Amino acid sequence: MPLVKIDSQEVEIGKNETVFNAAKRVGIDIPFYCYHPGLKIVASCRMCLVDMVGAPKLVPACSTTVPELPEAKKIEGKFDAVIFTDNEKVKTARRAVLEFLLLNHPIDCPICDKAGECKLQDYSFEHGNDASRFVEIKRVPQKKDLGPSIFLYTSRCIMCSRCVRFTEEISGTEELKVTYRGWHAEIDVAPEKPLNNKMMGNVVDLCPVGCLIDKHERFEGRVWNFVHTDSICPGCSKGCNTTLDTMKHQKLNLEELVDQVYRIRPRENMTVNQWWICDDGRYHLETDKKKTRIMVPHVKQGSKLAEVSWAEALSVSLQKIKAVSTKEVALIGSPYASNEENYLLGKLARLLGTGLDVSKPIYGDTQTFKTDKNPYPFTIESEKAPNYRGAKTTLSLTDSQLDKTIADKKVVIMLGSHNVELKSKPETLIVIGSFEDAVTAQADVLLPAALFTETSGTYTNKDGAVQKFNRAINALGESKAIWQILVELASGLGQSWYYENVGDVAKEMIENVNAYKTLELDKLYPQFSTLNEQMVV
Ligand code: SF4
Ligand code: SF4
Ligand code: FES
Repeated sequence: MPLVKIDSQEVEIGKNETVFNAAKRVGIDIPFYCYHPGLKIVASCRMCLVDMVGAPKLVPACSTTVPELPEAKKIEGKFDAVIFTDNEKVKTARRAVLEFLLLNHPIDCPICDKAGECKLQDYSFEHGNDASRFVEIKRVPQKKDLGPSIFLYTSRCIMCSRCVRFTEEISGTEELKVTYRGWHAEIDVAPEKPLNNKMMGNVVDLCPVGCLIDKHERFEGRVWNFVHTDSICPGCSKGCNTTLDTMKHQKLNLEELVDQVYRIRPRENMTVNQWWICDDGRYHLETDKKKTRIMVPHVKQGSKLAEVSWAEALSVSLQKIKAVSTKEVALIGSPYASNEENYLLGKLARLLGTGLDVSKPIYGDTQTFKTDKNPYPFTIESEKAPNYRGAKTTLSLTDSQLDKTIADKKVVIMLGSHNVELKSKPETLIVIGSFEDAVTAQADVLLPAALFTETSGTYTNKDGAVQKFNRAINALGESKAIWQILVELASGLGQSWYYENVGDVAKEMIENVNAYKTLELDKLYPQFSTLNEQMVV
């Protein structure tokens, strides 16, 4: 393996490994714009130039590899390359690149959504000049509407071409192109072919500056106010890893902080979603906003559901359950609820001797984004639920036979509802759910449940990866985490369960669910080892 010296550090570098990568491995950050690990290398921005001893000029770290030299030619007797990433030559080149990029760049930072996480802003501060020598009139190309979700603030573009390469190499939809040349070059779409594919939101994340702006997020908040929480997309059984950016804004100058999820971004996981998510997942909460959230408990009074207190809703539920034999009760798990929630439901059903089943997920279209330049095709799964596999595993069920299970039951308790078709309505239907739908309309008791953003737990994706999502905001209205509601119901039914937090439930689940016992938890899912500390109600 070639041995290189990068600044003062000796590093072994792989045969096809770039200097950029080797430097990163030993903690040396080289600035970059056009490079992205998921895209082909074009080495066009020149921001990553480094000084390689013996090379006639500075070389781009993102595309430079190091061949092994014969013994006699080794530098300083042992190195195949000696590289400086921060000497005067490199610093001068960086200043020049930044000066060039800023020639026509507007001073938009105060109103630009990217400010605070913009690589042009950061690198100008770290590596740029403190004043511009450009006194001519700046070129001001107009903002463009690229499609249903994205604006192009043309004047902010630094022509890194990441967005164009994404549509060519990853989505394969090829909507974005570079038009004109040199000083006049611009990103554009063809007439009648807007940027409109289910992966398009990723170009906003890829844009290193504030040129591509998501219409859903524009002017909504400043990024330095965000709190970042690791999560898992519940949009389908793929289980993409995401980050929830939660905004906390102050109201009326009071100290009160209001939680709100401002945006959902992909989180790198090479075995699940690489660096991307689809727009169904990205705008998942937008879709939720169109539904009516159940904010408080309800009990049917006459023909209508009336708002009641938690105490009353639980008391009515318990009366209904106790009024019949446990054989006439069924508990129904959900592919939308976490492993921990389904596990507790299964535990309760077995302790009481009731019927047990799981509802089926909603199925929709599947779509695969695949090109010959991308080794990781991205599939949006047809199973539009995050945890059908996990629900069946934790409930020890092989499939859903809902109609059969509830056919002779008088009381049915369902986790979630998601418009499940019920052939016959039981005498008492208790739904623990978050949104109103055709099923909740038939419910006799409605218990409001927290969403995945408002509680913590794990989902098992279609391939069996058990992945943790974390609470990012407080539960809306009077909603409670499903596991808490189940603990309260169990206690009313004579079970004395005590879990300090959902991490305690997870621990017990791991001990009791055979499929999870065999996992080398610390190795495969290191998040499990910290589950107890990190998970809160
Ligand atoms: S729009 Fe953004 S990602 Fe696309 S070329 Fe310009 S700076 Fe790069
Ligand atoms: S592919 Fe599925 S899991 Fe991934 S972001 Fe889209 S909906 Fe969410
Ligand atoms: S990041 Fe290397 S040339 Fe652009």
